[in-house]
Amino acid sequence: MSLPDKVEIIEVGPRDGIQNEFNFIPTEKKIELINALSKTGIKRMEAVSFVHPKYVPQMKDANEVLNGIEKSPSVQYMALIPNKKGYDRAIESGVNSLSLVVGASDSFNLKNVKMSREQSITNLATVIEKAKANDIFIRYSIATAFWCPFEGKVDADLVLKMVEEAEMLGADEIVLADTIGRANPKQVFELFQAALSLKTKSSISAHFHDTYGMALGNVMAALEAGITRFDASIGGLGGCPFAPGAAGNAATEDLVFMLHEMGIDTGIDLGQLLACIELLKPFTNRELTGHLHKVKGCQS
Ligand code: COA
Ligand code: ZN
Repeated sequence: MSLPDKVEIIEVGPRDGIQNEFNFIPTEKKIELINALSKTGIKRMEAVSFVHPKYVPQMKDANEVLNGIEKSPSVQYMALIPNKKGYDRAIESGVNSLSLVVGASDSFNLKNVKMSREQSITNLATVIEKAKANDIFIRYSIATAFWCPFEGKVDADLVLKMVEEAEMLGADEIVLADTIGRANPKQVFELFQAALSLKTKSSISAHFHDTYGMALGNVMAALEAGITRFDASIGGLGGCPFAPGAAGNAATEDLVFMLHEMGIDTGIDLGQLLACIELLKPFTNRELTGHLHKVKGCQS
């Protein structure tokens, strides 16, 4: 098995994790969580999204959250945006790293952002042009890159074309996301191997959900294909409100534990990460799906 020495974890809990929580989490608690996560050794984070508050009310305080956190100079705080309006709001909040999202599946994209895939790409192309002129980092997430909740399995060739397109548009990072957590390790290995063979200048990252319990298996397959950047969400929270049935993301603490056990460095302090889960617990109604925080006397 060929494994890297180091892996980069991108914490998406404050955005993908929290967006699906039913009860509104007070702004100061979101700030507290992001500040605590910033002290664990995590270097990159999706902190908020600038989407319509009618569709995702949990993110309505994105501006207050971003302006309330103690920004660590060693952490990249990213904001997800779906369109130009999101771009304008993010810029007003002083964001310098954006996470753009477009679904490979048209049906999902229509549900998620009310545009066809092609409309989204055209809209985001103008966003990228402006962002590049302002030296803003562009993370380009291709949602439903493996499976769609409405259309089933997604054509790998279409996704690979989207990767080339994202590269052409000037993305710094391209993320292939299994939005509904339906992919299997073989499918993951093959798609990432093909994506890496395109030799893009943009880095390529993986984003897995654990609906069928395959998130860590899929991480292993992506590692084997040569991927070294993974999204994860503290406690295993997460799920897209517009992708029915999607469970939480790969739990950050489980992923970090697995990588450390295999001798792979993440730069993250597992004890501090587990302490962040305690901040979350009072604000979620659901049982956290991560395993590690349930292990009694966990040896981290
Ligand atoms: N943030 C806040 N308001 C926004 C916005 C944004 N990013 N984009 C559009 N709006 C506002 C417009 O200003 C307009 O306001 P008005 O009625 O006061 O003039 C209104 O929304 C309608 O604009 P329109 O462009 O037609 O938006 P829409 O109704 O088609 O919705 C999205 C499109 C993308 C804003 C909406 O579908 C959305 O927020 N989706 C959330 C996606 C998400 O977060 N998914 C999970 C993460 S992948
Ligand atoms: Zn997700």
